[in-house]
Amino acid sequence: MKVAATLRVNGVTYPVELEPGTSLLDAVRDDVGLTGSKEGCDDSECGACMMLLDGKPVNSCSYLALQAEGSEVTTVEGLANGQELSPLQSAFLEHGGVQCGFCTPGMLISATALLAESPSPTGDEVRIALSGNLCRCTGYDGIVTAVLAVAGAR
Ligand code: FES
Ligand code: FES
Repeated sequence: MKVAATLRVNGVTYPVELEPGTSLLDAVRDDVGLTGSKEGCDDSECGACMMLLDGKPVNSCSYLALQAEGSEVTTVEGLANGQELSPLQSAFLEHGGVQCGFCTPGMLISATALLAESPSPTGDEVRIALSGNLCRCTGYDGIVTAVLAVAGAR
């Protein structure tokens, strides 16, 4: 039986009807219609589905949508400034942090959370912060360089 709920995503309130077991990832992709967050493993292993929940990164594939009621959810779509990429998004492109792009939404979310908490991280701190995000393409160096470039530009 579906339950009426509201989800607040990227500053917009969405009325939704959800099965109690619906994941936040499925609700955001299927009910809200924002498909930037990806499903890699559906098992809290890859980080492709990562979203910010009140500023903290969570694997949305393993988080119940109904538990997110009352919280502010931020997805990769919420990081850009309208049509303009965020500095972090631009840096990923500039420094080779994107190849197939499947991991990129989750990487950007984790990096955003890191820089909010620690504006001048070391390379090791970036790698630790992104350790829950798997990338099969880039070798990670471009991603770490991109995060450090944004931190250094502040
Ligand atoms: S899809 Fe959620 S961690 Fe992989
Ligand atoms: S760019 Fe392909 S998985 Fe990271």
